[in-house]
Amino acid sequence: MKFFADTSDIDAIKEINDLGMLDGVTTNPSLIAKNGGDFFEIITEICKICDGPVSGEVAATDYETMMKEGEKVAGLADNITVKVPLTEAGLKVCKNLAGNGTMVNVTLCFSPMQAVLAAKAGATFVSPFVGRLDDIGQNGMELISDIVRIYDNYGFDTEVLVASVRHTQHILESALIGADVVTCPPDVIKKLYKHPLTDKGLAAFVEDWKKTGQSIL
Ligand code: G3P
Repeated sequence: MKFFADTSDIDAIKEINDLGMLDGVTTNPSLIAKNGGDFFEIITEICKICDGPVSGEVAATDYETMMKEGEKVAGLADNITVKVPLTEAGLKVCKNLAGNGTMVNVTLCFSPMQAVLAAKAGATFVSPFVGRLDDIGQNGMELISDIVRIYDNYGFDTEVLVASVRHTQHILESALIGADVVTCPPDVIKKLYKHPLTDKGLAAFVEDWKKTGQSIL
């Protein structure tokens, strides 16, 4: 299972990388707006820090402009993944970029059949948004099970990249279902370490070690 950091915050990306947890990075226009900075500089910097795929999203919604943006973004680094929306224009851009050997992440996926279209267009990744489905009273993880099952049925190579992850339960369920990738806000990745019994057990070991009067160094 691969962990991508869902952020454009350079310090947070470095921190997750130093922990050995960084398999890739995803960004989107909202994250770029939130963290500030120049899009091209940020994406180029992230591509240097992270060896794995780094998603940079197009901003246009029409095919011609999106295609030009996609080609420009694709030229930024070897590990760049062009992120396009799951629209008719986005799928067309996906097909063309993928045909030229560019990695493409098709985002804003909310239904199993949208995911099938992304796979047929040659997407490297499809990004179903689980948290946003939960927000409207639907079951985001059910979408992940459906996509994984359909992709398995037909042997599609597109990787299921679980997005809009809000908590560690989303990560656990993604792992149980067998999703390829989860992209998570860095604070959610860091919460995976935490267990009260780990903290309690460590406190006891520290106290007991003091009683031995020994030093390992
Ligand atoms: O990268 C897209 C996705 O992860 C967005 O998440 O929390 O804005 O729904 P969210």
